[in-house]
Amino acid sequence: MRRKFIAGNWKLNNNRRQTTDLIEKITAQSRDAKNVDVCVAPVFTSLQSAREAIGSSPIILAAQNVFYEEKGAFTGEIAPSMLVDAGCSAVIIGHSERRQYFGETNETVNKKILASLKVGLTAVVCVGETLEERETGKTNDVIHAQLSGAFKDVPSLEKIIVAYEPVWAIGTGRNATSQQAQDVHAFIRDLARKKYGKGAEELRVIYGGSVKSSNAADLLARPDVDGALVGGASLIAEEFCAIIRLSS
Ligand code: 13P
Repeated sequence: MRRKFIAGNWKLNNNRRQTTDLIEKITAQSRDAKNVDVCVAPVFTSLQSAREAIGSSPIILAAQNVFYEEKGAFTGEIAPSMLVDAGCSAVIIGHSERRQYFGETNETVNKKILASLKVGLTAVVCVGETLEERETGKTNDVIHAQLSGAFKDVPSLEKIIVAYEPVWAIGTGRNATSQQAQDVHAFIRDLARKKYGKGAEELRVIYGGSVKSSNAADLLARPDVDGALVGGASLIAEEFCAIIRLSS
């Protein structure tokens, strides 16, 4: 039985004080949740405040991005070991917004995964098709290309979580149906099985794209949906914690 993983991707929101407030609310409201991993991903400048606010609670702290070099002349970048130093144990890699606006490619995603695994971070690897790709029947091809690129030279699925986030469902209020999610998640697990064998059974494949408390139960009930990567709804403690409770 795979343990559910519910992550809040806060994107470009919340200064340090807002980060602390939200984490305090999440901690208080998710105290009774069992058998679920809860993760939050604030902006870089709020990571340390987040770490302090998390204290000894089991909430997992993730960054939203990372660079693949450890040091050097790379103005504006953050190294994997610096995330560990700031108290992170996970990092989101290859989010579609990074692919769309910041030139992230399957190759840079791969380098970031390898560098993150090297310092012991859990990599939450995002994949997903655009609306045009879905409508022209290319969803599986796109996912296949993204995952083969991402997993090049990755020795095992340990410390890997895959987030399926259809681009057309992100921030649009239009979530994938639970059947659409299940179909792609099963396809992802199949791809993982071909490359890693039994390890694929332990792999958590989480869904992202307009997840809220009103649609989460249906999505999370599907056999290959092992959690959620929540954007907008993760900024509201009550909503996020309702999703956490549905998973525990
Ligand atoms: P929304 O939940 O706001 O659609 O965002 C999803 C997402 O991109 C999480 O990474």
